[in-house]
Amino acid sequence: MRYLIILAHPNPESFSSSLINALHDHLVNEGNEVKIRNLYAIGFNPVLSADDFSSLADNKTPKDIEIEQEYVKWSDHIIFAFPVWWGGMPAMLKGYIDRVFSEGFAYEYVAEGVNGLLSPRKGSTICSTGAYSEEYKTVQDAMKVISGEVIFDFVGIKPYKQLFYGGVPSVSDEVRKSYIQNALREFSDILIVE
Ligand SMILES: Cc1cc2nc3c(=O)[nH]c(=O)nc-3n(C[C@H](O)[C@H](O)[C@H](O)COP(=O)(O)O)c2cc1C
Repeated sequence: MRYLIILAHPNPESFSSSLINALHDHLVNEGNEVKIRNLYAIGFNPVLSADDFSSLADNKTPKDIEIEQEYVKWSDHIIFAFPVWWGGMPAMLKGYIDRVFSEGFAYEYVAEGVNGLLSPRKGSTICSTGAYSEEYKTVQDAMKVISGEVIFDFVGIKPYKQLFYGGVPSVSDEVRKSYIQNALREFSDILIVE
């Protein structure tokens, strides 16, 4: 399986970054191909601009968007990994989706409504939160709707795992390590199922 991991965290020492490094190694060891796009490290521009609209309308995809779309085309499974900021994804990741999942590439409008163009890929999210999960179910459920239905379903991606790790700044190192082990186990299931 070809995994594309979109990491949206500016700090390489963060929990999210450590989790993704471990998941990368785990997936590679299990025989998968894995590519990570670390949006802050590559200096991705997340602002969908007037120039982008006019270029896309002329069928001229801006080069930086085209590069990311090639990664998406390459993948079988896309994982968005991010810390929850103000009840959602960091603006960097939202901007990546605004620009890379563009009309004509990720979806098209047809007489019946909308046609997602990115099937048969799978999509997953891995999120860390400051809040403990027991206190945060309403927000997590809302985020599952946004990621699963509003984003993945819309573009024809089948939602797979939506993982949340709570209380990340408060819990012990041991618990943080157990969270990472949990994520690795969650992504081992794919190999058992398929
Ligand atoms: C700008 C900002 C906004 C945040 N908003 C939330 C929030 O809405 N809900 C929450 O539970 N934690 C929030 N947090 C806490 C982070 O989610 C938490 O520190 C992070 O998940 C820890 O993992 P990390 O080491 O990967 O950053 C916020 C942190 C920052 C910096």
